[in-house]
Amino acid sequence: MKRYFAFFVLLSVFFACNSYKDLPSLEFTNDWKVQRVPASQQLTGGDPVAGLEYMTTGDYIGSGVPLAAFKRLPKVKDTILNRSGVNATFPIGIMAFDHANGTKVFSGNCLTCHGGYIEGQYIEGLGGLEQDFSKDRSFLFKLLDAKVKMKFKEGSKEREAFEIFSSINKRAMNYIVTPFKGVNPAFRLEETYVMRRNPVDLTLKEEDNYELDKHTLASDVPPWWHIKKKNGLYYNGMGRGDFTKLLMQASTQGIKDSTEARAIQKRFVDVFAYISSIEPPAYPKNINYDLAAIGRPLFEKKCSGCHGTYGAEETYPNKVVSLDVVKTDPYYARNFSTKKHLADWYNESWYGFSSPVSEVIPLDGYIAPPLDGIWATAPFFHNASVPTLEGVLNSTIRPTYWERTDQYNYQKLGWKYKQKEKAMSKKVYNTTIPGYSNKGHYFGDAFSQEERLAVIEYLKTL
Ligand code: HEC
Ligand code: HEC
Repeated sequence: MKRYFAFFVLLSVFFACNSYKDLPSLEFTNDWKVQRVPASQQLTGGDPVAGLEYMTTGDYIGSGVPLAAFKRLPKVKDTILNRSGVNATFPIGIMAFDHANGTKVFSGNCLTCHGGYIEGQYIEGLGGLEQDFSKDRSFLFKLLDAKVKMKFKEGSKEREAFEIFSSINKRAMNYIVTPFKGVNPAFRLEETYVMRRNPVDLTLKEEDNYELDKHTLASDVPPWWHIKKKNGLYYNGMGRGDFTKLLMQASTQGIKDSTEARAIQKRFVDVFAYISSIEPPAYPKNINYDLAAIGRPLFEKKCSGCHGTYGAEETYPNKVVSLDVVKTDPYYARNFSTKKHLADWYNESWYGFSSPVSEVIPLDGYIAPPLDGIWATAPFFHNASVPTLEGVLNSTIRPTYWERTDQYNYQKLGWKYKQKEKAMSKKVYNTTIPGYSNKGHYFGDAFSQEERLAVIEYLKTL
């Protein structure tokens, strides 16, 4: 037994090692500067209240860990969602639900990653980066697997309710260890969830559909109040067409097939209604409106062309900006645009061919996001590499190595951080690693410091 233990540990370490040699080529030139993402038809008319309830108690992950595997589960008081039953004592990011065979199981839910806090205050729709994905969880999933197998007989309902969740996650954990805390590998999870699914009916198969490089792709978590304005989801705007389908991608973690997916998609009309109902939070401190009035025309001159206008006349141009122009780290965009593994799978799959149709169209660029509630969404850029908004507008002050604290800086708009000499621990964001660079977006560099502070003051009003 001891020997096996060592074997497992070695294996986990082997898979966790990041190697950079198989990265997609980061050299390229685009023959376009900006592409507008057209609007697509959406399924409106859902019920936001039912959507939140389904999102935090529903069966859309399909399978999970049988509750009965544990004699006692840790209890917390959920004062945010006020759910009932077992869910009343689970953290907001965990939920219990019934597997199709009647077994009570639990799993994570959307709020595992999308439930964000600032200084202890829950902010609806804000993404959170508190989870530490630099910890290798593959061993944990192996232990969980062993526990369930020991407790329940082969052929039991509990084993059936656990099987897909377990097999998919055990593999996925090998691909998602991030080089440090403070980034979220959700898309790499998705890439591994569908790696062994038949595109047509979403059932599991034996062989991989494609290869993934071992360098962990991870990003920031965008706030949900953007999706009212965005025509293309995700940092590169590649999520097109029907949003209910794009929103339910986490289901590929544990569902059996496309028959289950279809039933879930119908419920996601409500989830989409809930997410679309979320408003950006108002800046909670005092604003100097005289200074903001100086910042506004500067913003409209230098920034609105990409980010839109705010206030009485709202506009949002939905622009994907070429990597040549924005110059932020190319790895994320190139991961999807060069190999097209995920796009090819998705577009041929149930998600792509059955109505309502959705699509993945990766481009070599990033979408210029709406800036509503921007005061709350630090760190910035798709890879969460810049801790403050002041740093977004002044590239010379961006720290190379930084460690986030739990305190928010309401003046510079972002996380208070400690600047480091090098990456001493996994708590330190290391911008020298491919995919995590803090370069690019030099559009605020030409401002004088006075102008910059005026623009920041204006951004607090959005
Ligand atoms: C493991 C963490 C994780 C889970 C679980 C998760 N998400 Fe996300 N979500 C992310 C990350 C990270 C992104 C950014 C992905 C990107 O753009 O590359 C994202 C992007 C999104 C977006 C696009 C927002 C935009 O502005 O483009 C929506 C909408 C969304 N998620 C909804 C959901 C819903 C609904 C669920 C539950 C069914 C869910 N997510 C589960 C991490 C997660
Ligand atoms: C040419 C188009 C363009 C212009 C001009 C532009 N931006 Fe951006 N902006 C982008 C793109 C694209 C991104 C996303 C980059 C990324 O995530 O890698 C971005 C990101 C940002 C972010 C970070 C958003 C987040 O949630 O992480 C902020 C803040 C921002 N821009 C503010 C401004 C301000 C203020 C100006 C004016 C000085 C400006 N931008 C000018 C295209 C532009």
